[in-house]
This record gives sequence, structure tokens and C-alpha cells, in this order.
Amino acid sequence: MANIPKLAKLDSAQLRRDFEVLNREVRPGVPLTYLDSAATSQRPRQVIEAVDAFYRQHNANIHRGIHTLAEEATALYEAARQKVAAFIGAADPREIVFTRNTTESINLVAQSWGRANLQAGDVILLTEMEHHSNLVPWQMLAEEKGLRLEFAPITNDGLLDLDGYHKLLELGPKLVAFSQMSNVLGTINPAEQMVKSAQKAGAVVLIDGAQSVPHLPVDISALGADFLAFSGHKMLGPTGVGVLYGKLDLLEAMPPFLGGGDMIKRVHLRTFEANAVPQKFEAGTPAIAQAIGLGAAVDYLSAIGMETVAAHEHALIAQALERLEEVPGVWVFGPSAEHKGGVASFTFEGVHAHDVAQILDRSGVAVRAGHHCAMPLHEKYGVPATTRASFYLYNTEADIDPLIEGLYQVKELFG
Ligand SMILES: Cc1ncc(COP(=O)(O)O)c(C=O)c1O
Repeated sequence: MANIPKLAKLDSAQLRRDFEVLNREVRPGVPLTYLDSAATSQRPRQVIEAVDAFYRQHNANIHRGIHTLAEEATALYEAARQKVAAFIGAADPREIVFTRNTTESINLVAQSWGRANLQAGDVILLTEMEHHSNLVPWQMLAEEKGLRLEFAPITNDGLLDLDGYHKLLELGPKLVAFSQMSNVLGTINPAEQMVKSAQKAGAVVLIDGAQSVPHLPVDISALGADFLAFSGHKMLGPTGVGVLYGKLDLLEAMPPFLGGGDMIKRVHLRTFEANAVPQKFEAGTPAIAQAIGLGAAVDYLSAIGMETVAAHEHALIAQALERLEEVPGVWVFGPSAEHKGGVASFTFEGVHAHDVAQILDRSGVAVRAGHHCAMPLHEKYGVPATTRASFYLYNTEADIDPLIEGLYQVKELFG
């Protein structure tokens, strides 16, 4: 995209001009400090403009029409698929299925691949740091089919216990599914090594990339995982569009997940013939404008470079951790900055996470409080909730100051 500056080093202050919302005040005189990107990112004007331009100039349903607008809409939608494929290093755009979000992508694998390939007694190996979206679909399938769920343990400082993981691989799981980056601890798991040993043990591997694809360089060819799930809205794209990457041979062998619309080739009253991949998994009218917006988001991230994005966030989290640890009563979960993405979840002694978030909001600091859809992980640490500050490419060192100042106000109020 011509209008995105190519920066050797990320200049967040300059980038912030593309994110209008970051310049607003939450109340008169109180500027917004947005530290909730792990929940959803903000979108730059280039993404908003791509969606806007689609509706203004090209809006039509895809794949079915032969009029000009339908052809343009189809070309834009399929171009977005190619951009996403290139972004994650997929060999073939047909390996990119557009879904609604990470959650739907994982449910697709569970309901299609899982139902067709798993039998009573089979083991699914997950980890103790999973988001509910990578737990519940497998629990549902396990209940239906009598599968056995196992969980790779984590260490007290929030790293995956690799010895424990390898020990559980000896059970011969049919599927291994894990998050490449934890949305609570920020832990970046050694995905390449984990995929290799899981596949050696005979497992099909799914990576939950909801937090990794937006923040780290992810090359699926190098990782070698069979499936990778992620969401557009966490990587500068619109809500309502997500991605399931799947190896072509696996996708081709899988039965459809939802029926109707684009997923059929031929229908008789009692039978149907499914379309080829990826349309086989894109039933009904998809999120056309949103997929095109995701294509623009991928352009934006690619122009900056994911190495640059990751390095920037790494520097920010290192500083944030250092400063958080100085605040009396604050306890940060997860490993040291070296093993972590831009996520800091913490407790404040004697103060509920919701109260912390509320006080921070008074100073315009937007953070998340709760279990972050990872209740079992919070149970493991014996806390009902944490407060989470999360960073993205548009955050700067200046965003850490109001966070720390707000925490000192919490201390004053709850003393
Ligand atoms: C690690 C992880 N997995 C899955 C999800 C679910 O993403 P979505 O709500 O976009 O489906 C999230 C969202 O927070 C996440 O952080």
C-alpha cells in the first residue's frame, strides 16, 4: 500500500496518526491510553478506508454473480485470501479458510476433522494455559465421543513445562492443540519444537495463533503445524472475520462443517456434493468487507514488518515489567520479558482487579480485568481475576506512565 510509510524502526508516534481513536479523550481533559489490544486491537484508517471503499464502490455478493460489481467483489475477497496466505507463509491460498474468528476456526477443526478422525479413548493433548476457545470445543467433542483430555503443565513462572509435555506425548495423542502465545501470561511457547515432537509422536497439531499472529512473525511453513487459527480483529482488521489455515490435504479430506450457500457444488433433494476447498468451509455469504479489511490490515503490518512489531513490543513489555514491579502490592504473572509478548497480567494486593481497572479508567487507561477467558489458568494460580495491560505497535513508552501513576492512585485509595 502506497500510503503506509516504510519504517526501518517502528515510529509509533508517527503511526498513531493513522489511529484516530487513539487521539480521543475518554472524558474532557482525559486522553485515552489504550492498553487492551490483547482483547481487540484498534484499526488504522487504511483498514477503515478499505472497508468503506468496498461498500461505496464495489459492494456485491461474491462467487455467484457475473456482473461487474460481483466480479470486483470476488476479486477483492480472493486477493485478501492471497494476502493472508503470503503473510503467514502458506504454500497455497486454498489453505486459508475465512471464518468469523479464532473460536470458530477451532470449532471447525473439532467438529469436522475431530468428529471424522477421533474415536473413543483417543487422547487430545492441550496445555494448562489455554483460552476457553481452545478448551471448550475439545471438551464438547470429548463428551460426545468419549475422548481423553490431557494437559501439559506449566511452571510457577508461567512457562510450559517441556518435560511434562514430552512425557504426555508418550501417550500417543491424536491431536495436540496449544496457544503459541498466552493471552494472560504473555508466554511465547517454543511452537516449532512442540510441533516437531508432537508430529513425531503421530499427532495432528493445531496452533491457536490468536495472540501470536498479530504480534510475532509467524511462518507456517517453518512451523509445520497442520492447523493455525487466528482472528482479524486482534491484528488491526475488522471484527467478524477470522482465519483457519489448514494443510491442503487435510482440508480436502475433511467433511464440511456448516451446510448451505457457497459450500456446495451440486444439490439434490436428498443429497449434496461439497465444493472444493476453501469454499467447502465457507457456507453462506461470508464477511466480504471484513475479509477485504483484513487484507488491508495485513498490508499495513507487512509494510512495517513483523520483526519490527515484535521488537517494539518486546522493548515496551520489558520497560512495563520493570516499572510494574516497583509498585508496592503489584504481582505480575508469567515469565520474564525474554519469554514474553506484550502482555502483563497482575494482581494488586487487597484490591479486586475490577476496582483496579475502574480506577485506571478514571485516568483514561483502558485495561482488562477478569479471568480473560482462561478460568482454569486463574484457578491454577489461585486467583479469581487479574488486571491485564497489553501493548501493540501503536503504544509508546509514554503509555506506561499513566498506567503506573494510576496504580499509585489505587494504592492511595485502597491503601
Ligand atoms: C489465545 C486466544 N485464543 C483464542 C481467543 C479467541 O479469539 P476470538 O474471540 O477472536 O475468537 C483469544 C481471544 O482473546 C485468545 O487470546
